[in-house]
Amino acid sequence: VPVAVLISGRGSNMGALIAASLEKNYPAKIVLVISDKPDAKGLEHARDFGIEAVAIPRSDYDSKPDHEAAVSAAIAASGAQIIALAGYMRLLSGEFVQRYSGRMINIHPSLLPAFPGLATHSRALSAGCRVHGCTVHFVTEAMDEGPIIEQEAVRVAHDDTPDTLSQRVLEAEHRIYPKALAMLARGDVRMSRDGRALFKDSI
Ligand code: GRF
Repeated sequence: VPVAVLISGRGSNMGALIAASLEKNYPAKIVLVISDKPDAKGLEHARDFGIEAVAIPRSDYDSKPDHEAAVSAAIAASGAQIIALAGYMRLLSGEFVQRYSGRMINIHPSLLPAFPGLATHSRALSAGCRVHGCTVHFVTEAMDEGPIIEQEAVRVAHDDTPDTLSQRVLEAEHRIYPKALAMLARGDVRMSRDGRALFKDSI
């Protein structure tokens, strides 16, 4: 299944998806990477793998709908059937989200529904959490709230800082994102009309 990955920066999750997709029998293929930031490190990284990578900056367009139309057009031209958000730092409109309903997933650095939004690692530490982690979920209109596909928990150490904790969570992200994308591409999970994740045994 052809996949487009949307990024805004480093692109380490994108790299994990690309690496997985190069493995034998992996059911998804990354055909396009789009960044809204022209200087995103992930763009070069994708090109190193020979994958088409384009910048579509918001500042090139008069309005958010115009920008999203350009992103949609690039996705359509690539033939991508699934969209994977990987550190894409722009809130998508309801219209865009609806268009790819059940076909767009995101990785978030917390065990949702705890800590949606930003600065998840320092918030988990401040809250005194002994476990933290990451989540892959379907994208719905409310930010970081879509049905959950996969999660991995990470133990919090007594001497963790946001930095040390984020490194271990990132390693977990790189494990669960390729796994969740494969599940979606294989049809082992789908989103129901009423917005729940349905898994193979229950589909
Ligand atoms: C990751 O922590 C991801 O969970 C969050 O943004 C960060 C992106 O990192 N949504 P990278 O660009 O994939 O390295």
